[in-house]
Amino acid sequence: MLEIDDLTVRFDGIEALRRLTLVVPPGARIGVIGPNGSGKTTLFNAISGLVAIAGGTIRLNGRAISHLAPHQIAASGVARTFQSVRLFQRLSVVDNVLPAVGTTRDARQAALAALDAVGLAARRDTLAGDLSFYDQRRLEIARAIAQRPRLLLADEPTAGLSQSECDHVIELIGNAFGAETAILLIEHKIAAVEALCPRSMLLSEGRLIVDAATSDMRRDPRLANVYFGTQLPL
Ligand SMILES: Nc1ncnc2c1ncn2[C@@H]1O[C@H](COP(=O)(O)OP(=O)(O)OP(=O)(O)O)[C@@H](O)[C@H]1O
Ligand SMILES: [Mg+2]
Repeated sequence: MLEIDDLTVRFDGIEALRRLTLVVPPGARIGVIGPNGSGKTTLFNAISGLVAIAGGTIRLNGRAISHLAPHQIAASGVARTFQSVRLFQRLSVVDNVLPAVGTTRDARQAALAALDAVGLAARRDTLAGDLSFYDQRRLEIARAIAQRPRLLLADEPTAGLSQSECDHVIELIGNAFGAETAILLIEHKIAAVEALCPRSMLLSEGRLIVDAATSDMRRDPRLANVYFGTQLPL
């Protein structure tokens, strides 16, 4: 489904991703963990066409996508939620979802179904900027659901949420996408990764250093090593 080979991304002097190779089969659910600055968001930005790549290839269903514009990549089935929520604050809840649906005759119906899936149908006419932070996070997920993606890139969708909100968001993501949709989840709390993703990858300084069952990752000494001096994500 997604094949990344030897991917390198550079910003000025630094290599944010170094020769990263990764295969994501259809329907796979993979956690992406690693300390601040290890390259997690850059990986998502490279896949979704938001940063230029310095080397390597990114293929989606066999087709190279790294030269495509972000909207073309989105149209090929890649949805995304952002580490800091990105919504049209001055548009209504439903109007934030409508562009993701496309221009089908039943667009509004589909947008409302996506809102219903995250529990926001009753807030359809509220301005996005007036929603609580938790509801804004859920609205971003509704927008991704409306896109019916083959690949979801969720960048810390639980950041800033309480424990119960966090559990609910992980459950939502787990239930809202079909079995054929692959999910990459960036997440600092291993328990949350474990709830959704049987497999996870550990990044450190732009390199993929462990790709393993999430239950093994917890006990892997390289995890503690990479997080040395900072809070372990357990
Ligand atoms: N647009 C950019 N321009 C310059 N440097 C960047 C840019 N985006 C990321 N970087 C740098 O690339 C490295 C990786 O950043 P990235 O945002 O991918 O980390 P991350 O793993 O998502 O961290 P966090 O957990 O804090 O979100 C960092 O050193 C960061 O400062
Ligand atoms: Mg990040």
